[in-house]
Order: sequence, then structure tokens, then C-alpha cells
Amino acid sequence: MPLPLRTAHTADLDPAELRAVRSLLDEAFDGDFGDEDWDHSLGGMHALVRDGAGPAAHGSVVMRRIRHRGRWLRTGYVEAVAVRADVRRTGLGGQVMAALEGIVDRAYDLGALSASADGAPLYTARGWQQWSGRVCALSPDGIVHLPEEEGGVHLRPARTGRPLDPDHELVFDWRDGDIA
Ligand SMILES: CC(C)(COP(=O)(O)OP(=O)(O)OC[C@H]1O[C@@H](n2cnc3c(N)ncnc32)[C@H](O)[C@@H]1OP(=O)(O)O)[C@@H](O)C(=O)NCCC(=O)NCCS
Repeated sequence: MPLPLRTAHTADLDPAELRAVRSLLDEAFDGDFGDEDWDHSLGGMHALVRDGAGPAAHGSVVMRRIRHRGRWLRTGYVEAVAVRADVRRTGLGGQVMAALEGIVDRAYDLGALSASADGAPLYTARGWQQWSGRVCALSPDGIVHLPEEEGGVHLRPARTGRPLDPDHELVFDWRDGDIA
């Protein structure tokens, strides 16, 4: 039987629960998960699976804006997907992603995420599409090209609406830390 999964807004997770999720992320990313990454994962909806040892799997979706062909698309941006090392490849990552995809499909024009090398096989197996076009961002000084983000960006287009065209760039909204 799959472990129960809970979805909750950041505002509905108590401080102890948030601390436990942060510890899961610190361990899962092997020390490569910083305060800005944590900040990026807050303020939206979390999907959380717990087992007897505490948080076992987590991911969140937060709202961002991505401009494409003149429209600023309301984008559900997936952050901080991680599964505790001892329970990987048991379907928990997929369970978390299914919950987040449901939120993206119901609430946003577009789903997007930036995949780590570990994460990419999970997302492509679930139908997320690697973006082959240019990635830019609207910085405080204007639009800047982000070639280092290209290749990692994966999208889940809305079932309705104009298809995304890789001949036209994506322009991400700005934030501190990693833009994508
Ligand atoms: C990436 C991660 C979240 C995957 O979680 P998981 O619970 O192991 O994933 P699942 O068991 O749900 O995998 C579902 C499917 O995704 C694919 N998949 C997941 N991890 C994979 C891997 N390392 N290599 C190849 N395929 C993989 C497979 O198709 C898998 O199905 P299968 O096990 O039947 O072959 C987990 O490895 C992790 O926490 N890694 C460290 C943190 C990280 O990099 N997070 C992603 C940030 S973008």
C-alpha cells in the first residue's frame, strides 16, 4: 500500500515540520541545497510523504511568471523534489510528482522545473519535456541570456492554449540565487 501523501500550503506546515523537510533536503542534495534554494521552495503548495522515520519524500510548486511569445504565463514551478536515500526507487518521487502535476494542471498555464542529473530521468519518464530553446530572465538591468540554464529546464505545457515554440525564448522572472 502506498504511504499517505499530504498536500499543504507553506502556511499550513508548522515550524517543526518545515525544519524536518529542510533536513531531508540538506541530506538528499548532499549539502548542495542552500538557503536560497529553500527560499525558492516556500510560499506555495508542498507534497509530503512521511514514514516511521520522518519525512520520506517532498516537493513543492510555487507560482512564477515566464514570458513566451509576448505572454507572461502563470507558471507552477516545481522545487525541492527529494526522496530520502534509503527509500529511493520505490515510487515515492513519482507519487510526489503526480500530486504536484495535479496542482499544476488545475491552477497554472504551464509547469516548469530545472532538473538535476538525478532528477531528469524521473521527469522525462513522466512526460515532462526538456526545453530545447533559449532561456533568458528579466534581470533588474533588462533581459539577460542564461545559457547555463539551458538543457535543465523541463516543461509541462497546459493541455489547452498556444503550444510553446522553441524558436522563441522563455523569459523567467527574477529572483535571488539560481534563476531556474
Ligand atoms: C530524483 C529522486 C527524487 C527520484 O526519486 P525516487 O523516489 O527514487 O523516484 P521513483 O522511485 O518514483 O522513480 C520513478 C521512475 O523515475 C525514473 N527514475 C527515477 N530515478 C532514476 C534514476 N536515478 N535513474 C534512472 N531512472 C530513474 C525511473 O523510470 C523510475 O521508475 P522505476 O524505478 O520503475 O525504473 C531521488 O533520486 C532524489 O531525491 N535524488 C536526490 C535529489 C534530487 O536530485 N532531486 C531532483 C531535483 S531536480
